[in-house]
Amino acid sequence: MEVIIRPNTEVATELASQLIAEKISQKPFLCLGLATGRTMEKVYNKLVNLHKSGALDFSLVRTYNLDEYIGLSPDDPNSYRHYMNEHLFNKINIDLRNTHLPMGMADNLEDECHLYEESIKNNGGIDLQLLGIGRSGHIGFNEPLSALQSRTRDKALTPVTVAQNSPMFDPPESMPKRAITMGVGTILEADQIIMLVTGKEKAGILAKAIEGPISSMISATALQLHPKCTIIIDEDAAADLQCCDYYKWIFDNEPKWEPYR
Ligand code: GLP
Repeated sequence: MEVIIRPNTEVATELASQLIAEKISQKPFLCLGLATGRTMEKVYNKLVNLHKSGALDFSLVRTYNLDEYIGLSPDDPNSYRHYMNEHLFNKINIDLRNTHLPMGMADNLEDECHLYEESIKNNGGIDLQLLGIGRSGHIGFNEPLSALQSRTRDKALTPVTVAQNSPMFDPPESMPKRAITMGVGTILEADQIIMLVTGKEKAGILAKAIEGPISSMISATALQLHPKCTIIIDEDAAADLQCCDYYKWIFDNEPKWEPYR
């Protein structure tokens, strides 16, 4: 695991976006794992701008999102399908048939989860997975007690997550309390992971995720098991890290420093 602390949200977001863009340039048919949330909106905005400037071609890229709310149709403005179309897919030259999210309206959720796993496998697996972190410490919607080997399945959301995400629903009480999410085991199978975390409200849970013991109570701690995981954060999110100076020293002084490119 490598931790890169940047002075502010803008610089941290820029670095994450650059790394994703580089990967797509190196492998135009990249299989990209995508996340949602406010943090990612800024990343997608930067990727859209790179595309518009002619620097980034998505025509062959394939994507798999981490999760989707159960009970929301793809055109529901609060669905993650709608979020992805609005923030990224409709603004770039990606083939929508190459974009995948679990179907929150599926009649048989178990089958849907199984098919999602099969589809990832049949596409050769995820090359690069982008992640944020929820205040409960979740990656995707892997809430506390998610098995570290869990696969795509439906999951009940914690009150912490409902409090975090319900302000985006009108009325807030209409937020679904369940979601389909890739499992922790599914996420760990990606070849490479980039997690982006910004803001002081994430500092406490982020320190536990990076420096705390591995535990299914905080699914992000499972990233400590991944051999190629880069965590990009801003100064605010880094506030509670014990080894902050060490991580900064590596980034500033290690002559051979290079993220996993
Ligand atoms: C949701 C998603 C997570 C994401 C989190 C962070 O809960 N399921 O994948 O990491 O939001 O959201 P934000 O960036 O808004 O803090």
